[in-house]
Amino acid sequence: MKTIFSTCTPTLIALITLSTLSCTQYQIPDREIPVLEEEAAIVSTCNPDTVYFSNDILPLVVSSCATTGCHDKDSHKDGVILTDYSSIIRTGEIKPGNPNDSEFFETLTDDGDDLMPPPPYDPLNSDQIQMIRQWIAQGAQNNACSDGCDTTNVTYSGQIWPMMESYCTGCHSTSNAGGGIVIAGYDDLVSLAGNGSLMGSIRYEEGYAKMPTNQQLSECNINLLQKWIDDGFPEL
Ligand code: HEC
Repeated sequence: MKTIFSTCTPTLIALITLSTLSCTQYQIPDREIPVLEEEAAIVSTCNPDTVYFSNDILPLVVSSCATTGCHDKDSHKDGVILTDYSSIIRTGEIKPGNPNDSEFFETLTDDGDDLMPPPPYDPLNSDQIQMIRQWIAQGAQNNACSDGCDTTNVTYSGQIWPMMESYCTGCHSTSNAGGGIVIAGYDDLVSLAGNGSLMGSIRYEEGYAKMPTNQQLSECNINLLQKWIDDGFPEL
């Protein structure tokens, strides 16, 4: 018995090593794990035909989906975490280039129980859904752009309301009023600006809740809001 074992063992080890090696070689091409870039690739000119993850997608997803009780890190409903690029791709089961085969995208337009955000929350509007579709179709990249900051002609409909829709209204709609504060339109925002809490909270000043909660607005966006207030809240 002893002799048989001693001659067999090296052969066995060699066999195991060989099979492990060949398994590893054959498994790699089978796996469909996209390369996840944690750091956004920033370009200095924003192409109007490109949807950028950091500028357009992340703020919207965080304020509409990654709220307490839903898809923030602590709540992670159904194992879905929508707070950062790699979690959104992985747990949202996003197939770059293929929105219709991406779980995350499907739920935005579902006509049954899977619709996200679920009632009583408002669903995303068609522009927002279209933007997410385009981002996934363009490869669901971790991209960003910075175009300088043009504060010459700041209006409510031009820059301010779109900014609110990306960063704020998911948590401050009539159906989901964080802290009881509703930002549903022009008058709401003018009154928050008037009592100081708008700039206090976005500048992360002492005595105010920090808004948005996860990450401060860019300097450009803060300047745009300040300019809009200084100019007397132009509507158009
Ligand atoms: C993730 C959810 C969430 C997002 C996104 C969010 N808020 Fe809030 N906001 C809250 C909650 C919750 C409160 C109440 C916090 C508290 O009282 O501590 C609040 C409070 C506020 C307040 C009152 C602050 C104070 O101290 O009086 C203002 C003003 C405000 N938010 C504006 C905004 C604006 C503007 C944005 C977008 C730039 C925004 N919020 C984004 C959840 C959110």
